Amino acid sequence: MNGQSAAATRPVESAALSVRKLDKRYEGNHGDTITVLSHVSFDLPTGSSLGIVGESGSGKSTVVRIVAGLERASGGDITLGGAPRRGSKHQLKGPGHGLVQMVFQDPYGSLSPRQRIGIGLVEVLGIRGRVQRRDRTVRALELLETVGLDRRTMGAYPRELSGGQRQRVAIARALALEPAVLVLDEAVSALDVIVQAQILRVLQEIRARQDISFLVVSHDLGVIRQITDTCLVLLRGEIVEQGPTGEMLAHPQHEYTRALIAAVPRPGWKPRRRAE
Ligand SMILES: Nc1ncnc2c1ncn2[C@@H]1O[C@H](COP(=O)(O)OP(=O)(O)OP(=O)(O)O)[C@@H](O)[C@H]1O
Ligand SMILES: [Mg+2]
Repeated sequence: MNGQSAAATRPVESAALSVRKLDKRYEGNHGDTITVLSHVSFDLPTGSSLGIVGESGSGKSTVVRIVAGLERASGGDITLGGAPRRGSKHQLKGPGHGLVQMVFQDPYGSLSPRQRIGIGLVEVLGIRGRVQRRDRTVRALELLETVGLDRRTMGAYPRELSGGQRQRVAIARALALEPAVLVLDEAVSALDVIVQAQILRVLQEIRARQDISFLVVSHDLGVIRQITDTCLVLLRGEIVEQGPTGEMLAHPQHEYTRALIAAVPRPGWKPRRRAE
């Protein structure tokens, strides 16, 4: 399936997120224009999980940062839960604000070093005002349980936790805001494979239990295979292929997708000399 023709011009009503013809350009230092994204279109159905893959610099983070409202687009339309959101900064607090939450590779950025995990979580629960003050501690404990953390984590400081535990806390904090879309940008990339597998399982359970959609950026096709239903491939800011993840990984249509898949070492993989 070709990326550009796959998405119709009109947003899909049932989608948690519809992105149409998203463009992002920067001014270069010499009066030139650097095009980082061009005409990126995709839909994320409610409850579904979409992966974004592509080499470093292909524009993956730019897409999700615009979707999350952290950056403005140069053009295109974003529809979140049926309501339009333009990429412009002055509309960041408009419809859709809070519907998208991000988990990054390094959770230290979102955790205050001098604040106990529980206090931070209770504070986050107060942001959207949906959880009554007296219920926030109970809800915080529930969230910790959801991500597989012990209730004693409430009293811990970020530095007292392992990388995997901190990433679970970051996921719990994102979930506290009841997002429609959870964005995971290389969120498990820095973790060892066992911890990574545990967190992927937690994420699967969360998606099975609640109405939440995932947008997953990862250079790791194993992660993409495990937690996404559909996937798109970015090459220099353009979608070159998109479709069901399993099918795409088994039968990649685009030469670039084939190259990405071929670059993953497999069991039995041996380094080959160039000449061979
Ligand atoms: N402020 C800026 N000015 C000019 N170019 C920028 C700016 N910010 C990002 N870019 C460019 O946008 C492109 C896409 O960056 P992005 O961070 O989206 O890539 P990525 O696919 O997430 O890469 P990685 O896998 O390394 O995280 C890069 O080529 C980057 O140099
Ligand atoms: Mg990135």
